[in-house]
Amino acid sequence: MTTWITICDTCKREDWDAATNPRTDGEEMADLVERLAAGRGLRTRRVSCLMGCTHGCNVAIQAPGKLAYTLGRFAPEEEAARGIVAYAEMHAASATGQVPYRQWPQAIKGHFITRHPPLPGHDEDPG
Ligand code: FES
Repeated sequence: MTTWITICDTCKREDWDAATNPRTDGEEMADLVERLAAGRGLRTRRVSCLMGCTHGCNVAIQAPGKLAYTLGRFAPEEEAARGIVAYAEMHAASATGQVPYRQWPQAIKGHFITRHPPLPGHDEDPG
């Protein structure tokens, strides 16, 4: 099952200032995650708003038939993006999507927002 990382590219953290930032924090985060996820068997996509605007940057980790997670409160920094990608790899390797806490990268601890169980019968991987 392919694990997808969905990155909100319109997230702006509290300190974001249009006068000094030509790009959103979400765009910066998306660039980092896409670069680090390349060649790791993961898929990425950008969306505009995951409805977690007060606690960006936000990403979602999903795969057919597995637990899905939303993570947020990230600064658009390399360490955070590395943690997100490492966690997504563990999610991909897990049959259920659940990753033991002791394996979580430090950078994602304290960043979980939601968990969604998979829909019944939706275990087909569209690729
Ligand atoms: S702008 Fe990113 S969650 Fe709304």
